[in-house]
Amino acid sequence: MLQKVVRSTVIDAPVERVWAVLRDFNSHDRWHDVVAESAIEGGEKSDQVGCVRAFTLKDGNFIREQLLTLDDRTYKSTYCIVEATVPLQRYVATVTLKPVTDGNRTFWHWESTFATPPGRERELRDMVAQGVYEAGFENLRRHLRTGGDLRVGPSTGGGRGAAAGLPAALPLPTRRVVVSRYGGADGLRAEDGQAPPPGPGELRIRQRAIGVNFLDVYLRRGWIPPMLAEGGVPGMEAAGSVIDAGEGAAGFLPGDRVAYLGPQPGAYAGVRTVPAAWCVRLPAAIDDDVAAATLLKGLTADYLLHDLGRVQRGTRLLVHAAAGGVGLLLCAWARHLGATVLGTVSSEEKARLAREHGCQHVIVTRDARFADAVRQACGGADVIVDGIGADAQAENLAALARRGHWISLGQASGALPPIDADALLHKSASFSRPVVFDYVATPAELEQRAQRLWQAIAQRAVKVPPIERHSLESAAEAHRRLESRATTGALVLVA
Ligand SMILES: NC(=O)c1ccc[n+]([C@@H]2O[C@H](COP(=O)([O-])OP(=O)(O)OC[C@H]3O[C@@H](n4cnc5c(N)ncnc54)[C@H](OP(=O)(O)O)[C@@H]3O)[C@@H](O)[C@H]2O)c1
Repeated sequence: MLQKVVRSTVIDAPVERVWAVLRDFNSHDRWHDVVAESAIEGGEKSDQVGCVRAFTLKDGNFIREQLLTLDDRTYKSTYCIVEATVPLQRYVATVTLKPVTDGNRTFWHWESTFATPPGRERELRDMVAQGVYEAGFENLRRHLRTGGDLRVGPSTGGGRGAAAGLPAALPLPTRRVVVSRYGGADGLRAEDGQAPPPGPGELRIRQRAIGVNFLDVYLRRGWIPPMLAEGGVPGMEAAGSVIDAGEGAAGFLPGDRVAYLGPQPGAYAGVRTVPAAWCVRLPAAIDDDVAAATLLKGLTADYLLHDLGRVQRGTRLLVHAAAGGVGLLLCAWARHLGATVLGTVSSEEKARLAREHGCQHVIVTRDARFADAVRQACGGADVIVDGIGADAQAENLAALARRGHWISLGQASGALPPIDADALLHKSASFSRPVVFDYVATPAELEQRAQRLWQAIAQRAVKVPPIERHSLESAAEAHRRLESRATTGALVLVA
């Protein structure tokens, strides 16, 4: 009769980190105390299905095991004994990992079936359950706690990186979305890729939620080639947990929940390696999808209101796309500051939402006609936040109050034609063309703005916009909806 042994545990580390160790079929002599020496036969790679590991135990026994399956998506591997001096017959084992949803921990399930010589069932069951599995759980915990997994390379043949004095962590497999060709959303394609180990000052992050921004659409269309070439991965922000940290990534540890935004695209991926200087730690109250929905857009609202626009009680602020991601955050925060908030939207449904988020005067227009309505409502706008671009140029000038400030934030309707400086003259108006990354250029400034945003959300000065979720693989659908003006609030890709 076949014997069955099943053991499971929870490891206090993210699933990717545990898997990075266990998927290496030749890693066990680095972390499991019962194993003396191990090598992969025939110079094959240690994650190659079919490879055989030959190892000795510290008690002198010798075992050869073959890797039967390895699945990086489900974190599952199967292997069997092909030869052993211990009497385990027809031994087949499966290792399965699952992320624990509450925190950054890993559920590890280890089971096997095997036959034994008659009368030795109990002895061999206990040996596998306690000597191999339960001891293995403890040994791996210690290995991770002491960072033993962070500086060792993949092993092949008889030797391995660490033994050969070539420390290097493993690249991790990941799904990612690339712009296969500039143009429509159909050019977005999901594929397999790798996230390199973190270099000095870098973090490798298991991303759970990725923010979609209109900038991603410009990049996909090929409007800013120096920023994203064809074949590149778009996306400027995400949230998740740290898998591993490079040297000098001060203040971050594996398992930390973080979010980031950065001036180089590449966020449409399950795992990404980024400079720690782009990252902030997340408070427990901010979920990953809320962070991905609000970080870039909320810090944009922060610098527009507090720095560039200097919005305060009584400021007449006009927000275009008031029911969009940036728009709703701006309306709510500006209202909290005591501004008079006006906004444009393209439908009654969007108008309702903008009002709920603090916009007092909502102008419904699909073709960027709003100047008359603004003048009627308040005489003119002191500050205009314009993400529309081409279609709204003339109306923006007409809607500005004397000494008004027109902030050109984006160009959802097309590139803004050059501005004639004299057009600003007759109202002593000013014009700015800012980018959020210049307002979070140092870790200190990023941290300060992020803290202000989390606090504003906690105190309900800012209402979190509705979040529309798509899977990472459905990024093209998210883009189609965003650029067809079908969405309200923020879009997030769930990895
Ligand atoms: N410079 C920066 O620092 C910075 C940072 C973040 C965002 N941005 C810019 O801020 C703007 C808003 O970004 P977001 O990500 O929050 O997007 P969003 O506002 O959620 O979506 C764009 C909205 O623009 C409006 N729109 C007007 N004309 C359009 C057109 N021809 N095609 C498509 N949409 C049109 C639509 O709202 P209606 O249907 O209601 O008109 C649409 O929902 C974008 O221009 C973006 O590039 C700039």
